[in-house]
Amino acid sequence: MKIKILTLFPEMLEGPLHASILGRAIDAGLIDVELVNIRDYAKNKHNNADDYPFGGGAGMVMLPQPVVDAVEANALPGMRRIYMSPRGRTLNQKIVEEYAQCESLLLLCGHYEGVDQRALDLCIDEELSIGDYVLTGGELAALIVVDAVSRLIPGVLGSDESSADESFSTGLLEYPQYTRPAEFRGMKVPDVLLGGNHADIAAWRRRESLKLTRERRPELLNSAPLTEADREELRRMERADEILRALSSDGVRAERLDMFAETAYAKAWFSRIVPEERRRAARKQCFSGRRHVGWLYQAFEMGYAPSVRGEEAEAKFAAKPEDAALGGGAVLYLNRENLAFRLENPEALSHLPRLALLTAPDFSWSFARSSRGELYSYTKATEANIP
Ligand code: ADE
Repeated sequence: MKIKILTLFPEMLEGPLHASILGRAIDAGLIDVELVNIRDYAKNKHNNADDYPFGGGAGMVMLPQPVVDAVEANALPGMRRIYMSPRGRTLNQKIVEEYAQCESLLLLCGHYEGVDQRALDLCIDEELSIGDYVLTGGELAALIVVDAVSRLIPGVLGSDESSADESFSTGLLEYPQYTRPAEFRGMKVPDVLLGGNHADIAAWRRRESLKLTRERRPELLNSAPLTEADREELRRMERADEILRALSSDGVRAERLDMFAETAYAKAWFSRIVPEERRRAARKQCFSGRRHVGWLYQAFEMGYAPSVRGEEAEAKFAAKPEDAALGGGAVLYLNRENLAFRLENPEALSHLPRLALLTAPDFSWSFARSSRGELYSYTKATEANIP
């Protein structure tokens, strides 16, 4: 890829073009970036490249002659000629991909109040902005184009994979990354990333991408290529928010529990709710197939964990000060939807059946809480099956 940058200030560009990945790519001949000083084409006595604007106003305007001469002397056949300007269409990854397919690019940098319109009309194909703000000139914007385009040129990045998975190339924001140590200032790397199960890791990353995109850039979800599983995941996120709102309106502070990422947490719960002698059999059934997912429900559903029901359950679920074990409080688990919530102050949830009404009419759910070292569950839809 050949890129020519036409500028009045080539010194603004030299440093960044010789450092890090760009510097290496240029040294290796993977990209060829040429800086052209527009002033070298000025034909007037003082090599002036700008003058006052006709009609008055602040600042200076770049003269058409040096600009047109510089473009004409440097344009290669088929070259895409781009003027960096806040008036242009806004750069995004799709445009970057489009440019990366070009054999050569010419980037014209304006300075001061811009370039005489006739020069643009004569020799520019398109205007390009890097965002809705105004820079002192197009040089930094041109660098951004060079950087973003270069990393799509084969060989510029270490491995072909590095540019395939990240924000925008998947149409979604990138999932969070972690490196050593596994614990830093008390903050742990999600268990799933330490486990080495590649399918689990890929699924977790995809879900984190969906979650971040939904929170920060929801409009991207309209154009991102989504699978049916992604859509299902997004519906579950909607549902989780709906339930959190319902709980919050009842004065219950809750957070969605990510059982998938919190394997250790899931296992801790599991070993507390399932009596020792039944654990082996329970683990086999509850943790098989869709690993970790639905573990709590399965344990109750299959009768491995002690459960109570009806009024007895409600009595047991009444707030108890010693309920601080296991993160303090209770877990609400929606069986069918496979959603779990940690309730910070379950005592605010004074009446269990009300929870069912809050969430859905036809609603299968378990409510589990630890108390005096025991864990009790209340399972509405499966009441009849509970021993
Ligand atoms: N020149 C000045 N501001 C600019 C912007 N936002 N994008 C591209 N070129 C510019």
